[in-house]
Amino acid sequence: MDNDFLKMLRERRSVRSFKSEQISDDELNAVLEAGTYAPTGMNYQDPWIVAVQNPDLVQRLSRMNAAVMNTDSDPYYGAPTIVLVFASRPEKWPNGMADGSLVLGNMMNAAHAIGLGSCWINREREMFDTDEGRELLRQFGLPDSLMGVGALALGYPAAPARPARPRKDNYYRVVR
Ligand SMILES: Cc1cc2nc3c(=O)[nH]c(=O)nc-3n(C[C@H](O)[C@H](O)[C@H](O)COP(=O)(O)O)c2cc1C
Repeated sequence: MDNDFLKMLRERRSVRSFKSEQISDDELNAVLEAGTYAPTGMNYQDPWIVAVQNPDLVQRLSRMNAAVMNTDSDPYYGAPTIVLVFASRPEKWPNGMADGSLVLGNMMNAAHAIGLGSCWINREREMFDTDEGRELLRQFGLPDSLMGVGALALGYPAAPARPARPRKDNYYRVVR
């Protein structure tokens, strides 16, 4: 079976090289809106999305993320937009990580669908478990008790992404 949506799911790839030109507001909003339509446990819509385009803040996030890895490279690959996803901690809501992951997945597929590149970037949990991270959450107008789920580096791809690796054998099975 095939259609445009299934093809798009097969063709999305993580992009790790971005043009410096900022994406348009329409493009950003399309990606963010797609995130809000991800399914969530009990339709509670627990996650929160923060898109960062302020160059100083993008740099600061890059530094905070790199610090978790003890490096000074840019973990967001120079993307002009970083989209952070937060959710409640497991003690408060057991589905936070799952809900937030689906938000990120929707946004990656939406980005691809409109010609943008994206890549999930890790370590948001550690970044926002610091005093600096909690202070930023408050600046975003969010509770500082939230946990970071993950982030997207988002922008116009500077180079074509590598083809997908073959899927592992027996990835799925059907039991009837
Ligand atoms: C939970 C998760 C964490 C990831 N963290 C990073 C990361 O920190 N940096 C990075 O470059 N890619 C990261 N990725 C991207 C994966 O490396 C990528 O999805 C995988 O290699 C498959 O490639 P594809 O997305 O092109 O299919 C992450 C992906 C997921 C789902």
